[in-house]
Amino acid sequence: MVDVESFIDEATAGIRETVGDAHAVIALSGGVDSSVAAALAYEAIGEQLTPVYVDTGLMRKGETEAVRETFDYMESLRIVDAHERFFEQLAGVTDPEEKRHVIGEQFIREFEREARDTGADFLVQGTIYPDRIESEGGIKSHHNVGGLPDVVDFEGIVEPVRDLYKDEVREVARALGLEEVVAERMPFPGPGLAVRVVGEVTPERAEVAREACHIVEEELEEYDPWQAFAAVVGKGTGVKGDNRVHGHIVAVRSVESRDGMTARAQELDWETLQRIQSRITGTVPTVARVVYDVTHKPPATIEYE
Ligand code: XMP
Repeated sequence: MVDVESFIDEATAGIRETVGDAHAVIALSGGVDSSVAAALAYEAIGEQLTPVYVDTGLMRKGETEAVRETFDYMESLRIVDAHERFFEQLAGVTDPEEKRHVIGEQFIREFEREARDTGADFLVQGTIYPDRIESEGGIKSHHNVGGLPDVVDFEGIVEPVRDLYKDEVREVARALGLEEVVAERMPFPGPGLAVRVVGEVTPERAEVAREACHIVEEELEEYDPWQAFAAVVGKGTGVKGDNRVHGHIVAVRSVESRDGMTARAQELDWETLQRIQSRITGTVPTVARVVYDVTHKPPATIEYE
């Protein structure tokens, strides 16, 4: 991308030309990629676009409210509260790839219903360049690539940021006047908190992960990590008063990376780590212990599942 303003002009002109007088739909996740794709498409075709945000119950703390606020100017925005259906499908599922599959399938079901309802002919997607490379290489199953186009018989797919890298998407976000919080967000995985709960994803475990992730993001902002989060990794004993209790073990992870392909665990100071520990155990009483993950990628991955 040479120049942001010309990119925006060309991208919006391209969308207008492709979609014409027809209708388009986009799955808005709240992440920077789909937010930029939606904002570009809306600038191009206005209310001919219906952005659909599916609340899976696996989103960051405050995500749904943030999406509602940020995209308040789009009257066509649909927010679907689907968390009960997602947890129903995830009950008893422990295999990491099976989890991704279940979430992808449910997502498609939710989105398909909405897309059909809008009668859209075009699908807009926030696919970026590294997504395409990773999917083509079969590194992981991105639910934002590949699956959606098959579900409804769309006349065409529009991917306005398909040739951009993450930092370029952020640049476009800023130029489009999307709130700084959207432009500067850490990447959040498609399957959401499900890859931050080892084993079965229950509403209770997801809630622990959500609260702990929020605390970690707040506390580590000044370290400017590529990603910082917490994961529920198992159960262990702790003490409450005079009793031994069995509580959650939360792992804190903070990594530096250029593109997510490799990563280095960040060196944090003891006081910061202790503050995180005390905030997490103080806010979420069912957490018995907090550990810090010092493993780089490779050999570990960034997420836990
Ligand atoms: P891993 O855990 O594979 O993560 O080292 C590398 C980067 O990709 C994100 N990630 C995903 N993103 N769908 C996504 O859209 C997924 O299934 C998925 N799994 C991991 C992860 O957050 C990190 O930025």
